[in-house]
Amino acid sequence: MIFWRVKPLDQILENAEKKSLKRQLGALQLTMLGIGAIIGTGIFVLTAEAAQKAGPGMMIAFVIAAIVCGLAALAYAELASMVPVSGSAYTYTYAVLGEALAWIVGWALVLEYAVAAGAVAVGWSGYVNGLLEAGGASLPRILQTGPFDGGGFNVLAFTISLVITGLLVLGTSKSAWVNAVLVSIKIAALVAFVVIAVPAAQAPNFQPFTPTGWGTPMGGVGVLGAAASIFFAYVGFDAVSTAAEETRNPNRNIPIGLIGSLAVCTVFYLLVGYGAVGAAGAQPLYDAAGKLLEPGTQAMAAACLNSTALVCSNEPLAHVLRSLDHNTVAYLVGMAASLALPSVILMMIYGQTRIFFVMSRDGLLPEICSKVHPTFHTPHIITMITGVFVSLFAAMFPVGVLADVSNSGTLFAFVMVAIGVMILRRTQPGRARPFRTPLVWIVCPLAVLGCLLLFVNLSAKALTVFAAWTVIGLIVYLAYGKNHSDLAPKNA
Ligand code: ALA
Repeated sequence: MIFWRVKPLDQILENAEKKSLKRQLGALQLTMLGIGAIIGTGIFVLTAEAAQKAGPGMMIAFVIAAIVCGLAALAYAELASMVPVSGSAYTYTYAVLGEALAWIVGWALVLEYAVAAGAVAVGWSGYVNGLLEAGGASLPRILQTGPFDGGGFNVLAFTISLVITGLLVLGTSKSAWVNAVLVSIKIAALVAFVVIAVPAAQAPNFQPFTPTGWGTPMGGVGVLGAAASIFFAYVGFDAVSTAAEETRNPNRNIPIGLIGSLAVCTVFYLLVGYGAVGAAGAQPLYDAAGKLLEPGTQAMAAACLNSTALVCSNEPLAHVLRSLDHNTVAYLVGMAASLALPSVILMMIYGQTRIFFVMSRDGLLPEICSKVHPTFHTPHIITMITGVFVSLFAAMFPVGVLADVSNSGTLFAFVMVAIGVMILRRTQPGRARPFRTPLVWIVCPLAVLGCLLLFVNLSAKALTVFAAWTVIGLIVYLAYGKNHSDLAPKNA
């Protein structure tokens, strides 16, 4: 049956050889790419959103999201080492669960990567607006944020997305080198924050610890709602696997890149979360009727107009440092975020284009998407198309909404990967697995359950977008991919 046509692993590996990208990345570069993709808007900006959803309990949210991501990374690493070709969850699903599900996963990855790139661009604009304000050169309010966030058109988020797209068209190796420098800056900023904020933590700031409770399914609040949002802070490690075709010795280097980068980031996040709550307090805001305000809404924007609460800040780490009278370090952290968050946008757009590239190579998207530039050796056309869309999301939507929508796609893809690992263990037990998920029959089911738990705790808004996007995807597949696929009867 067509829905279940599977692309054999050997054919996937063979196809990748035919139309391939240059292998130039090593283990350290990959780990740096991973950290470059992971540390970003999640920790620098969504900390405020998580605090609005869970209060100090967001610290537990950080731990829950880290555990879920860690489990998913262990599953990812097995498939990424077995199938070291671009395309991440999309490619793995194609080999295991069939074309239609692979298409849906690839389609969901657009949410993960392209929408995430938009979210990071919006987060970046918060810090740059803060710096401009400090320098007495603020943009008009209407150009600072999108229409749902009390502004009109986020011009900075729009512009940075286009600039990054230009860099990606010029080539991976240059971009990866720039990325390494920016990652160092980002880590230095987090270290500075931790060194100042953690010793300043005070016990009263942790009370009440979970003012909004644990949350309800589709409610997008409470500790689980915050975990579902802050999960965004960990997303990105899988972008390492999308670079598999450009990696030397991918069987060894991909698992190192995936797990190493996630481990480094987790340690930083737990310290930063503790420091932010402990030093500045993190109680949520309520409306006049005592109802918790939803981040990324006009009502929240209005309540925040004259508030100095952490939950209102578009640049929460700088905000915490200023509240501790460390204005210079706050300024430097703002500078670091402004310089370094673009590396995350870069990784996200990069990941997106490589997934489109592979989907097109498989015939599920028009061939033009896998056209490689003769001089730059990059898929320039699809990069430019992706970049334009990312710029528009970034200009229009609030960071938290984009992050939650992105998470819906990511969590769905992670569920598929964990299921794929288990199926392949049964169906192809003899195939070489350079990296084996430890305790696979415990780790993979827990990864599935953890991802589902976070998925159902996303806001109703995010889940609705996810459902609508999936339906559109199915229509596109039936109208185009089903017939143009390499595996369609007339092409096979
Ligand atoms: N994890 C990335 C971030 O926090 C997407 O921005």
